[in-house]
Amino acid sequence: MELDKTTAVVTGGGTGIGRAVALALARAGAAGIAVNYASSRADAEETVAELRSLGCDAFAVRADVADAARVRSMAERVLSAFGEVHLLINNAGTTRRVPHADLDGLTDEIWHEVMDVNVLGALHCAQSFAPSLRETGGAVVNISSISGYRAGGSSIVYGVSKAAMLQLTRNLAVALAPEVRVNAVAPGTVATRWQTGLHGEAGFEAMARKERERVPLDRTSGPEHVAQAVIGLLGMDMVTGEALIVDGGKHVTY
Ligand SMILES: NC(=O)c1ccc[n+]([C@@H]2O[C@H](COP(=O)([O-])OP(=O)(O)OC[C@H]3O[C@@H](n4cnc5c(N)ncnc54)[C@H](OP(=O)(O)O)[C@@H]3O)[C@@H](O)[C@H]2O)c1
Repeated sequence: MELDKTTAVVTGGGTGIGRAVALALARAGAAGIAVNYASSRADAEETVAELRSLGCDAFAVRADVADAARVRSMAERVLSAFGEVHLLINNAGTTRRVPHADLDGLTDEIWHEVMDVNVLGALHCAQSFAPSLRETGGAVVNISSISGYRAGGSSIVYGVSKAAMLQLTRNLAVALAPEVRVNAVAPGTVATRWQTGLHGEAGFEAMARKERERVPLDRTSGPEHVAQAVIGLLGMDMVTGEALIVDGGKHVTY
């Protein structure tokens, strides 16, 4: 698919991976990008300014993706601004740090909070944008995680939510065919505020240094590496229901 003159929605598009994807889309010729956020308004506005400086018609739109009514309102606003949407990037995500062995610490509240944003949020966006995506012959990319394959990461529910996102990707690929392709990118560790929020600056640097010993490419991914994979998948016209791991090859070693 040609990205030139397309319009896109990037959830959680103001920061980290979402911001990198939005910028990559603009550089690939996207004509309009809606930058979704839940609370990081300043970051979203900053990303919008960067997108506009690249000649892309961009605006920030607030919506908690876990809230179906707010996602529907977001879709109305985006469609009234752009007329149609070609690309949906389900990047918004959250986690809570709960040691895996602490089963009682994984409360129902934490479970629902993480699942509602990471899984239901992606479904809400697919539901609200599906009619336009079908009309335009568009594409969806879901940002999952290596935690969807491995029993590691910040908490059990985070891994379960990212595994669910992989299955949601396969099911939506069938549900929205033949008009819309749906794929996923599963990053390993990516240097964003996500990691420094979980581990602190020094803690993340130490963790990343240790991890690089097991990463064949001997580098820590940046958000731009995930964006490369998103752009790649968007251009693959016969690929749907697929997931691409972006982790410098770590998962092929053990
Ligand atoms: N960094 C990593 O190592 C890594 C690895 C694998 C996968 N991922 C995935 O990559 C995605 C982006 O993460 P990141 O590393 O770029 O961290 P990030 O900068 O913290 O991005 C998370 C984004 O999700 C948004 N968000 C969270 N809850 C939301 C909600 N209820 N509604 C709408 N937006 C919401 C945040 O916006 P607000 O601040 O406005 O809420 C933020 O823009 C996430 O899905 C994460 O699971 C990250």
